[in-house]
Amino acid sequence: MNRIPFICGNWKMNNLVSDSVALLDGILPRLSEVQGVEVGAAPPMTSVHAVSKRLAGSGFALAAQNVHHEMSGAFTGEVSVAMLKDVGCRYVLVGHSERRTLFGETDDTCRQKVNASLQGGLRVILCIGETLDEREGHRTLEIVSRQLNVALAECSSEHAADIVVAYEPVWAIGTGKTATPAQAQEVHAHIRAELANKLGQPAADCIRIQYGGSMKPANAADLLSQTDVDGGLIGGASLKPDDFLSICIAARNSITHS
Ligand code: PGA
Repeated sequence: MNRIPFICGNWKMNNLVSDSVALLDGILPRLSEVQGVEVGAAPPMTSVHAVSKRLAGSGFALAAQNVHHEMSGAFTGEVSVAMLKDVGCRYVLVGHSERRTLFGETDDTCRQKVNASLQGGLRVILCIGETLDEREGHRTLEIVSRQLNVALAECSSEHAADIVVAYEPVWAIGTGKTATPAQAQEVHAHIRAELANKLGQPAADCIRIQYGGSMKPANAADLLSQTDVDGGLIGGASLKPDDFLSICIAARNSITHS
């Protein structure tokens, strides 16, 4: 199955506008080296507009880190799907583990955000993954199944092209610990099987499943060579253009080797 690999940076709460533009300027001139890979990033909200203006025509995929599920109204501090589309976002992250653990987001919040985004024409990167306790309790597959099935409860096969899933084991995010390629492949294959149950095999076959959690130049090639690993959601290593581009090159090489 030819899924276009997708490498997306998650800049989290880092970078003033000038830092974001400088980071982008370190990446854009080298995008021609990674043809065949979809490359993008989720800047902090204050940088989204400046990044959007800078990347016009480059093909770079602009993502937001968060969205609110209501269309408009009295929701102080929140941003709607239409607002994100208005500034050029193609994707939005939903359910990142930091949103879940630090800001109380639940599977049901994710479901509302997924529905609002897809209805409004914004593609979703749905983040799921188990904690260390859950992995040690042999509950990884049960947890990711629940997160996936609740968040995608109202989705059907026609949404497949607009859905990306990011498998991010919580114990690997920002810790320097990475899932082994075999651990990642096991969970990714399980996620694809769940997607097939829910949306049908053709839809499951076209949905990209990214790995996230301390992906870096040293481990990217091994992770990306796994059959069901179709890209990466990159935190720390996305803040340095050389590291980020090395991961994009590993994704490009995974195409030629598959
Ligand atoms: P990390 O973050 O690459 O720094 O582990 C990944 C993420 O949070 O998406």
